[in-house]
Amino acid sequence: MKRRPLIAGNWKMHLTIGEAESLARAIARGGIPADRDAMLAPPYTAMAAVNKALQGSSMLLASQNNGWEEKGAFTGEISPVMLKDVGCSMAIIGHSERRHIFGESDQLINKRLSGALKYGLVPILCIGETLEEREANQTFKVLETQLRGGLTGVASSEADKLVIAYEPVWAIGTGKTASEDQVQEVHAFLRTLLKKMYEKDIASQIRILYGGSVKPDNVDVLMSREDVDGALVGGAALQAESFIRIIHFNQ
Ligand code: 13P
Repeated sequence: MKRRPLIAGNWKMHLTIGEAESLARAIARGGIPADRDAMLAPPYTAMAAVNKALQGSSMLLASQNNGWEEKGAFTGEISPVMLKDVGCSMAIIGHSERRHIFGESDQLINKRLSGALKYGLVPILCIGETLEEREANQTFKVLETQLRGGLTGVASSEADKLVIAYEPVWAIGTGKTASEDQVQEVHAFLRTLLKKMYEKDIASQIRILYGGSVKPDNVDVLMSREDVDGALVGGAALQAESFIRIIHFNQ
């Protein structure tokens, strides 16, 4: 089964409006090969400007989180309807920083994911184990709990829209990339799990991205593995040259 690769940049809490706008322009100028998708998740304040800067490019826009209601008394949250209004078509959900710094639970993440699906945003569900969990041989157990917890109530008919991102916590922002064998092993495990949860042909369409210190010099080998369908990139997406190179992996 051939899946369309997705290279996603997560800018986290970086860049003012002007900085984001010029970086988006520079990245868009690098072009996107027709056989793959590319996406940027700017901070909310820069979303409108980045959307404008990306006019005429096939670059997709994503949020870094989302609420689940259309509107209401939810101070500090952002509605999926507002995100669509500003040009987003995808939403990063359950990022490791949301889980570990802000204490988001699988239950809360599931609410966010259901809200994204309800209002037509493609969710990118992030999951990943800590170093302690890996060293205690808990990796698969932790990932299964996060995957099943995040996807509770998601029917097969909606599952084809999902994207999963495996981001081992110990590889995020550390310069320590998981080896391509470690990544393939986990992705194959997740694919098998998805096939138990959903119809096989639907599960085999779900893209599984890897995130954690993806750089120009390791993207090609990671992307050559069977179950690696893309990358979720942090630090290296903050510079046009390196993100353009990552978008053009294996070329
Ligand atoms: P780095 O690429 O900086 O390790 O960040 C990964 C990440 O968290 C992307 O969401």
